Amino acid sequence: MSTTTAVLLPGAPVAEQILADVATRVAKLRERGVVPSLATILVGDDDASAGYIRIKQRQAAELGFASPHEHLPADATQDALHAVIDRFNEDPGVHGLLIQYPTPRHIDYDTALQRVDPDMDVDGMHPLNLGRLAAGMPGPLPCTPAGIEALLAHYEIPVSGREVVILGRGATLGRPLAMLLSQKRPTANAAVTVVHTGVADWPRYTQRADILIAAAGVPGIIQPEHVKPGAVVIGGGVRYEGRRLLPDVDESCAAVAGAITPRVGGVGPTTVAMLFRNAVAAAELRST
Ligand SMILES: NC(=O)c1ccc[n+]([C@@H]2O[C@H](COP(=O)([O-])OP(=O)(O)OC[C@H]3O[C@@H](n4cnc5c(N)ncnc54)[C@H](OP(=O)(O)O)[C@@H]3O)[C@@H](O)[C@H]2O)c1
Repeated sequence: MSTTTAVLLPGAPVAEQILADVATRVAKLRERGVVPSLATILVGDDDASAGYIRIKQRQAAELGFASPHEHLPADATQDALHAVIDRFNEDPGVHGLLIQYPTPRHIDYDTALQRVDPDMDVDGMHPLNLGRLAAGMPGPLPCTPAGIEALLAHYEIPVSGREVVILGRGATLGRPLAMLLSQKRPTANAAVTVVHTGVADWPRYTQRADILIAAAGVPGIIQPEHVKPGAVVIGGGVRYEGRRLLPDVDESCAAVAGAITPRVGGVGPTTVAMLFRNAVAAAELRST
């Protein structure tokens, strides 16, 4: 058991602030007679996925969103899924659309995602939106990377001009986060390095990071010897074994880091908040 010296960076206060702004924007839309609507699609009967949908629907209701939902059976065809996506895309009363991931094996999730109207893509993962991010154009941002930028900004951690090292180049987290944090904005503007399995001596890079972000999905891959004393450590990567969450960042890193996200409740809450920020922005866009 290590002694914690690092300042903890919980995600909940960050999420609360983002969601308070979302609630204000929802109220303004409702004053104009627009009920913002976030549609969800679940394919199959995976308990965890159904649970995530329920959480999002509850949160949607609390914020004042309508949340139409379509639950397709586990043996639904790709065409059946596309038909539901098309219906939501074409419904002027629906503003945001989310296909719960993962889908059953026989479903091609990427093809389904490409069918979603990019302006309704609240996950910010449509290839067009990743392209917009790369080009510096406005559009829905991928939720976890955007949540990490918001978390750093909330805790007034300087990012501009500093050395950020991201372990992992996955499409969900590492790669879009690198694009985001290297943009020319006060809350980004960093010297970003991305390391992965192709960089055998990756600890050499993480050891010099002012801000180290774990995005590998390999439990315990970040150990104290990988952290520069006093650095900020953000744990984005996690793996689930059943309901047990196994983070990339070993808890003992708190003895070396200056600030660190907690084992549970770090990046996760900010990801969910960003989903609703994308949803309210989609409603504003589609109702002008
Ligand atoms: N907290 C949240 O709300 C949230 C949300 C979304 C995702 N996540 C988590 O974020 C993580 C990343 O997601 P993703 O979809 O971007 O993942 P991914 O596509 O699986 O990418 C993982 C990356 O980690 C690298 N990596 C894996 N093992 C490594 C090792 N031993 N040494 C060095 N690099 C290694 C991989 O390198 P190669 O490219 O060389 O294979 C890859 O670039 C996952 O754990 C996911 O669960 C969390």
